[in-house]
Amino acid sequence: MEEILRIEGGHYLDGEVKISGAKNATVALIPAAILANGPVAIVGVPQIADVDNLAAILNELNVMVTKVADDHLIIDPTNMVNRTLDSAAVTKLRASYYFMGALLGKYGYVKMKMPGGCYLGPRPIDLHLKGFEALGAKVVYDKGCYTISAEKLKGNKIFLDIASVGATINIMMAAVYADGRTIIENAAKEPEIIDVATLLNKMGASVKGAGTNVITIDGRDHLMGCFHEIIPDRIEAGTFIIMAAAMAKKVVVKNIIPAHLEALLSKLEEMGVKMDVDVDSVTIYQSDDLKAVDIKTLPYPGFATDLQAPLTTLLTKCQGESEVRETIYPERFKHCLELQRMGANIEVGNGEATIKGPCKLYGDSVSATDLRCGASLVVAGLMADGTTDIHDIYHIERGYAGIDVKLSALGANIKRVVVE
Ligand code: EPU
Repeated sequence: MEEILRIEGGHYLDGEVKISGAKNATVALIPAAILANGPVAIVGVPQIADVDNLAAILNELNVMVTKVADDHLIIDPTNMVNRTLDSAAVTKLRASYYFMGALLGKYGYVKMKMPGGCYLGPRPIDLHLKGFEALGAKVVYDKGCYTISAEKLKGNKIFLDIASVGATINIMMAAVYADGRTIIENAAKEPEIIDVATLLNKMGASVKGAGTNVITIDGRDHLMGCFHEIIPDRIEAGTFIIMAAAMAKKVVVKNIIPAHLEALLSKLEEMGVKMDVDVDSVTIYQSDDLKAVDIKTLPYPGFATDLQAPLTTLLTKCQGESEVRETIYPERFKHCLELQRMGANIEVGNGEATIKGPCKLYGDSVSATDLRCGASLVVAGLMADGTTDIHDIYHIERGYAGIDVKLSALGANIKRVVVE
């Protein structure tokens, strides 16, 4: 028995949708909360499977997690115990690696299994480990488990060969209690990094420069509990904007920070999508005769790799030939195989996809091989003639809060169905 998403395509979207808190900020904020010495209240928490898995890890560490409301958690690490993290929850998501930085930062010791998450091609964590080593930690890998330990971490200058989101956040967390000053050069600049730095600073840490490529952390002796509201999810927002560009009569996507979506919005404008951008929302109107565009994924503020898959689906509707170059994860094209099955004219090779359009999509039985592949198939299901059955929706549930509920409210015909 499996629960799938069944979409009957061709229904226009009309109405308003409210975007949830950012998944990729949340999955770092929750581990970061254990660095405090008192309760940390977080609001805007999205209801996604990744949050449930992180809460399960917190339980293993004897951290008290109280759900005050659907989107409001209080994380109290007062009675925390630093245990080996080797449960299934650790391997269910990539972001469990943030417990490395957080536990190392707080206790100078962490032992945990290799993190899991979406397979997008090789996803090494060498830069995280090099960062920990630069702070004076010793890293031992044995039988799928990392042990990272230090007598006392000491601030240092760390240049990241690649501006990695995960390494930047992990090093920031490890450094908040270190002796002296840590400087991360070629740091990643994603908005989620600013959100984590904001939380750490509210706890009493000294993190300066987040959002630029140089972040400076001055170690502190004590961090306290605090209150924090998560920024809106720019990838969920982008996904709904893309769905609206494909199928809207008129859709208002609310609770967004438009500046976080500039690369997407400018591409949609180039395609001919009709929209009005407001302070914290964007309205998308029915847009016909869209034009092909070329995309190159890049670190923020460039075009987000996490929106590449949903946008690729929209490009099947555009007149002409579009080229999509993936520079972050050159193998992140599994969605294209599923889209081909639905009738898309796409060729993939050498970190690039070429989409020839316009091309009608037809409902089929497809599989969400990873989170954003799943999102691209939901876009495809809405656009297609006939019925699309999406399997392996646990990937989608890792990152999109109530996607079926939000789309139904907009007039889509989407439901959860249990099949053999
Ligand atoms: N990289 C290394 N060594 C490292 C770390 C990264 O070579 O130690 C490489 C990666 O292989 C990749 C590039 O550096 O080619 C960038 O990876 P990064 O570390 O920035 O990615 P991440 O932190 O693992 C986060 C998001 C991803 C998103 C990427 C890029 C979280 C939990 N995940 O991953 O989100 O694609 O940044 O923006 O924040 C998703 O939400 O679907 C998702 C996969």
